[in-house]
Amino acid sequence: EKKLDILNLPALEDEAKKIIPTGGYGYIFGGSEDDWTLKQNTLAFEHAQIVPKALSDIEKPDLSTNVFGIDLKTPVMMAPTAAQGLAHAQGEDDTARGVAAVGGLMAQSTYSSTSIADTAAAGNGAPQFFQLYMSKDWSFNESLLDEAKKAGVKAIILTVDATVDGYREQDIINNFQFPIPMANLTKFSEGDGKGKGIADIYASAAQKIGPDDVRRIAEYTDLPVIVKGVQSPEDAMRAIGAGAAGIYVSNHGGRQLNGGPASFDVLESIAKAVNHQVPIIFDSGVRRGSHVFKALAAGADLVAFGRPVIYGLALGGAQGVQSVFEHIDHELEIIMQLAGTKTIEDVKHAPLLHIHYND
Ligand code: FNR
Repeated sequence: EKKLDILNLPALEDEAKKIIPTGGYGYIFGGSEDDWTLKQNTLAFEHAQIVPKALSDIEKPDLSTNVFGIDLKTPVMMAPTAAQGLAHAQGEDDTARGVAAVGGLMAQSTYSSTSIADTAAAGNGAPQFFQLYMSKDWSFNESLLDEAKKAGVKAIILTVDATVDGYREQDIINNFQFPIPMANLTKFSEGDGKGKGIADIYASAAQKIGPDDVRRIAEYTDLPVIVKGVQSPEDAMRAIGAGAAGIYVSNHGGRQLNGGPASFDVLESIAKAVNHQVPIIFDSGVRRGSHVFKALAAGADLVAFGRPVIYGLALGGAQGVQSVFEHIDHELEIIMQLAGTKTIEDVKHAPLLHIHYND
């Protein structure tokens, strides 16, 4: 496998469609209901504009940053996404290799095709987070939290926006069932997920989550707990009040609550409420360097994306993943220079305009 020749990340979707089997591809690209929120996620970046700053005497912007005490070469990270074995035989292990090659950060999903320890080993010391889908079975939660800690994972991402499966039409059309097992689910008495649909798998997880659950998990593990699926200042404050060490602003890539706003449109108000008490991760709809810039300027400390990385993985394994990150970093570098921002800290302080265009 070799480096991908990438014009832009949206174009990868059509390329990946040619090689990922229909059911798996539908599961990956689809949103919920009529995909309204999914579409708004990317369109919403047009609601803000970057101020060009030409007489700024800067060249070669520096993309490195430090978040949660971790040094990173890029503010762009891999979102936790399930079942990457659907895209490539090496699954998450190749994703880990590709992300490590760019000095980035990867989050593993509870529903990974590979085990926490194997994927951590594939990352070869590169920083990783572990995303927990809380189970009704506390011994399951505790064993995964222990395993993550043992594997050297640096933080837990607790996803709270998936207590029921969004109405995923693609999965219904294709009668999609996971053709491959989920390595971490071998601990579930219900089985490893193979042959099940995502709705059945979510049904084994907790179907209600409240602040007390966040507190219980934060008290159990000594790793920082980041709450994922926040879309309002109120939820951000509830999460911090319950012990969250980070807020992850996301609408699950438009796969859960259809009819909610684009994730980018709620970021600024959440960042204002959080007021730098804890770091903020942002995702949903990020496809361009300019999107990353706008999210950082609107208050994010890290910007994640999911689908483009999975497509890169499908098309070129670890090298494909690396190529996707290099491409978005390249676009970001250009924007940073033209906006007169030398560092990620400068980007975080850059102004955004909110001019309304009719077309
Ligand atoms: C996801 N997402 C997700 N989130 C999570 O917390 N745990 C998970 O297991 C998964 N699984 C998953 C699978 C697939 C195929 C996709 C596309 C997404 C959501 C993910 O973390 C992230 O929020 C979105 O992918 C961001 O949107 P974009 O970048 O894909 O538009």
